[in-house]
Amino acid sequence: MGALPLADRTVAVFCGSSGIGFATAQAAHALGARVTIVSRSRERLAEAAREIGKVETQAIDIRDAAAVARFFDECAPFDNVVVSAADLSVGPLRQRSLADERAAMDSKFWGAVNVAHAARIVAGGSLTLVSGMIGTRPSGAATMLSAINAAIDTLAKALATEMAPVRVNCVSPGRIETPWWDYLPQEQRLALFEKTAAATPLKRVGRPEEVAAQIVHLMQNGFMTGSVVLVDGGGSVA
Ligand SMILES: NC(=O)c1ccc[n+]([C@@H]2O[C@H](COP(=O)([O-])OP(=O)(O)OC[C@H]3O[C@@H](n4cnc5c(N)ncnc54)[C@H](OP(=O)(O)O)[C@@H]3O)[C@@H](O)[C@H]2O)c1
Repeated sequence: MGALPLADRTVAVFCGSSGIGFATAQAAHALGARVTIVSRSRERLAEAAREIGKVETQAIDIRDAAAVARFFDECAPFDNVVVSAADLSVGPLRQRSLADERAAMDSKFWGAVNVAHAARIVAGGSLTLVSGMIGTRPSGAATMLSAINAAIDTLAKALATEMAPVRVNCVSPGRIETPWWDYLPQEQRLALFEKTAAATPLKRVGRPEEVAAQIVHLMQNGFMTGSVVLVDGGGSVA
């Protein structure tokens, strides 16, 4: 058996209204999957749905474990679930407040845990988490996010043993040009991307579609579980 088909399979993408999640929802939809995108802002969800085509939308804050659990209770078990959510700021630990660091953990780590705890997924289906390359190659410019990403890598591996025959994997992106970076003024953002590109073997930053392609591959490869796949242009080995 080659790639598992996605046509008519169900896919829930937390959070499919932007960036990597949006590109994943788009790719799965293009392969015929029945996609539900979940995130907080109804406006962004509606805009994403208009762009993708026929997808379901659900406005949920991933930090709200009860709301996440209700969502799964009210839906039939999914074939594939993806968690690509984070609303966080970064910096050196000692220059930031502990409240900001806890908020980052709540959003990215506990968001993934909330979904993993409640998700109902068919046997042989998949749960894919999204971490980040600095979990493998930590940076003092983003200390807590390095730790959060490493925790998500390990969470995926442990869940793969706990949730089998559901397959659990993690995709760990390098720097990817998504709306997440819009908090930086354009000049600063472009300078950062140029600096990253110069230090990366492939001499560029990544595109959300390139991360989405790997997430879709993990949905479709029935022999992959417990894997952490870097999609980083070689940044982790430079
Ligand atoms: N971009 C990069 O360079 C890069 C590199 C490594 C790893 N990553 C990781 O990849 C993942 C996706 O990042 P991205 O760049 O695609 O980000 P993005 O474009 O900012 O998209 C984030 C998505 O998450 C949703 N979201 C945020 N907080 C949420 C919450 N509490 N509840 C529900 N939905 C929430 C947002 O929608 P609402 O705001 O409407 O809720 C949005 O749809 C993140 O985990 C990020 O850390 C990104």
